[in-house]
Amino acid sequence: MSEPITPQAWWPEASRDWSADERQLLAQLDPGRLPAHVAIIMDGNGRWARQRGYLDRIRGHEAGIDSVREATRTCAQLRLQVLTLYAFSKENWRRPKAEIAALMELLRRFLIAERDELMDNNIRLLAIGSLDDLPNGARAALDETMRLTANNTGMKLVLSLSYGGRDELVRAARKLVAQHPDPAQINEAAIDAVLDTAGLPDPDLLVRTRGEMRVTNFLLWQIAYAVIFVTPVLWPDFRRRQLLEALADYQRRERRYGGVGQSTAPRG
Ligand code: IPE
Ligand code: IPE
Ligand code: MG
Repeated sequence: MSEPITPQAWWPEASRDWSADERQLLAQLDPGRLPAHVAIIMDGNGRWARQRGYLDRIRGHEAGIDSVREATRTCAQLRLQVLTLYAFSKENWRRPKAEIAALMELLRRFLIAERDELMDNNIRLLAIGSLDDLPNGARAALDETMRLTANNTGMKLVLSLSYGGRDELVRAARKLVAQHPDPAQINEAAIDAVLDTAGLPDPDLLVRTRGEMRVTNFLLWQIAYAVIFVTPVLWPDFRRRQLLEALADYQRRERRYGGVGQSTAPRG
């Protein structure tokens, strides 16, 4: 006889330092139906700064780092397989030079400061996007943090940096043509294999903060069947509670993949 369904053994341990509210939200989740891969479009740092009367948008980006840390730790505690964060888009290079420079410096410092946190939580850092666009300092810190965490076996934290979905598809198409002289050999698996996300499961849940109902060139191929959760909360205000609410919303919604009842994903 199988065991009755109880919260997973690790949950009381994982949630030890959580608030009573957060633990109550956790208790409402079904541990057997968590998404394997959560992707987040982190938006609203600028508005957050403006709302507080700060003249510098970077204050919002700085505050957003705390949200990144809390989301990452929580997803790792819940033993999700992958958390992908949209940190900087290919189009974000159009922002004022000073904001870009501040963001890149913030990224560099983050990649160094979070090494202990990543190691403590057995998290492996990966990155997708046109990484060659990054300034040397940020790129070196990224490479070193990826190297240090390469043998970690827990959650994968994927940073999207100078990432654009169309840019990724163009780069993928070039690899595809080089690898497959015969077009008849090209199928969905072949395309998966040349994307930046090769080897990762597709996102099951896509979260966007700041309320805009758009995907902003993020993971265009990979989100084909993702459940989308948009919240008006600004990224620096997004905390464990909001993440748990997104997971609860995900579990309330049925995915059909084109079928009629409880269907399974059409591809791995
Ligand atoms: C998201 O916040 C962070 C990045 C794109 C780097 P924004 O900077 O887009 O903040 P808003 O949308 O102007 O509020
Ligand atoms: C979304 O924010 C992109 C990232 C989180 C990196 P943007 O502020 O750049 O997107 P739009 O312009 O509002 O769609
Ligand atoms: Mg924005």
